[in-house]
Formats: sequence, structure tokens, C-alpha cells
Amino acid sequence: MRDLLPATVAVAVAGPDDWTGELLPAEQACLGERAVQTRRRDFTAGRACARRALTDLGLPPTAVPSAADRAPVWPAGVVGTITHTTGYCAAAAAYTTDIRSVGIDAEQHREVSPGVRRLVLLPEEEATCARLPSGTFWPVVLFSAKETVYKVWYPVVRSWLDFQDARLELDPDAGTFTARIAPARVDAAAVDDPPTSISGQFVIADGLVRTAAVLSLR
Ligand SMILES: CC(C)(COP(=O)(O)OP(=O)(O)OC[C@H]1O[C@@H](n2cnc3c(N)ncnc32)[C@H](O)[C@@H]1OP(=O)(O)O)[C@@H](O)C(=O)NCCC(=O)NCCS
Repeated sequence: MRDLLPATVAVAVAGPDDWTGELLPAEQACLGERAVQTRRRDFTAGRACARRALTDLGLPPTAVPSAADRAPVWPAGVVGTITHTTGYCAAAAAYTTDIRSVGIDAEQHREVSPGVRRLVLLPEEEATCARLPSGTFWPVVLFSAKETVYKVWYPVVRSWLDFQDARLELDPDAGTFTARIAPARVDAAAVDDPPTSISGQFVIADGLVRTAAVLSLR
């Protein structure tokens, strides 16, 4: 994930001990007592990474609770993002004086079901997947890129974005993507200067698709 983001963004990837470490009280309160073990491990690893990213920025290892909308709550002056999938977890954080927003996502590199494809891909994106080089499960690359786009968009605009609200173009050689946001969503955004497009990078390695994107300052 480090290579997908600029140097101003601190990135932490979970090590073996991070999945079973301690949560801070404010984080424990968000997880609740009844979380199943998988959720507890994912959440714990995400918070360990989040706090390490904060210390890499030179900040104290502050708690990163979840808001009611599930978005992580970063300390004032910081933007950040968390992802977890089986066997992998990472967080990234940066100062709001350096970037406007950041998103990361990791998925297992495998086929996605026809139902998920219908939900996630626009017809032209299906056509693009058919044209791209074989040997890669392109639909899951687009899926991950769209989740990253949502994680960039949401903290800025605080509104929902459907998978079909982002039209993705992908350069398989450069490992880059650009999402054009549906004009209706941009027009409805209740913030100054909502993003009309979000660009990022992807890598496929070790059985995982990793995607990341940053929104620059205005
Ligand atoms: C929120 C969402 C993107 C998370 O992705 P995921 O693949 O399910 O799970 P990941 O492990 O990668 O990410 C989970 C983390 O995302 C973060 N997250 C949750 N809601 C978020 C939001 N609204 N904004 C930013 N980050 C959010 C949280 O940190 C969460 O981890 P935590 O609960 O342990 O804190 C996904 O569940 C979702 O709701 N997608 C639908 C919206 C969407 O993607 N639209 C596409 C628009 S192009």
C-alpha cells in the first residue's frame, strides 16, 4: 500500500500481533461486547494500524472511534482510511494541510459473482473488463477501486455514492484509475467544490488487489 500513496500520507500495515492487541476504551465502545471474533480481529488490526499511522505523523496514538455512519473518526486536522480483508489490514493517515482526503481498499484477487458484477459495474465497464488483458480478475479491481473512491468521497461530501455513480477508466499498464462521479451526485453535494473525479493507483500481488487514492487540496 505504501507505494500507492504519496510520501505525505503515513501508511501502516498490520503485523501478526495487531489482530489480537488491545483497543482503547473509545474504540472498544464502538465495537461493542457482542462482536463476532472475525469482526473483533479486523477492527482491532485496523485500530492498531490507524494509531501507528498517527504516530508516524508525529501525533500521539489517539483513539480512532467509528461514527454512527461507520466512518472512522480521526483527530482534528487529520484525514485517514482503513481497510481489512482476510489476512491483510492497513490504515493510512495524513494532515489536512497536505491533502483533502484519502482512501484505501484491499480485496482478495478472485472472481466476483454475477450478482455483484451487476451491482458494481456499468455496462461500459463490463465491456472494458472483457477487453483488458487476461489473467487478472478485472471486476474485483474495479470493485476495489470503487470502494476506495467511496472512502475518499464520503468524508468530504458526507453523502452516499452508489457503485453506478462512478464511471471508472483504468490503465492496466500504469496501474492507475480515474473515477468520474455522476454529475447528479456532484450537483447534490452540500459542500464547496465537491470532487468531480477521483484518481488512484492499484497493484495486484500476493493474491490481493490493493487500491488507493488521494484527493489533493483545492
Ligand atoms: C464502506 C465500505 C466502502 C467499506 O468497504 P469494505 O470492502 O466493505 O470493507 P473494508 O474493510 O475495505 O473497509 C472497512 C472500513 O471502511 C471504513 N468506512 C466505513 N464506512 C465508511 C465511510 N462512510 N467513509 C469512509 N470510510 C468508511 C471503516 O474504517 C471500516 O472499517 P472499521 O469498521 O473496522 O472501522 C463498504 O462497506 C460500502 O458501504 N460500500 C458501498 C458504497 C460504495 O462503495 N460505493 C461505491 C461508490 S463508487
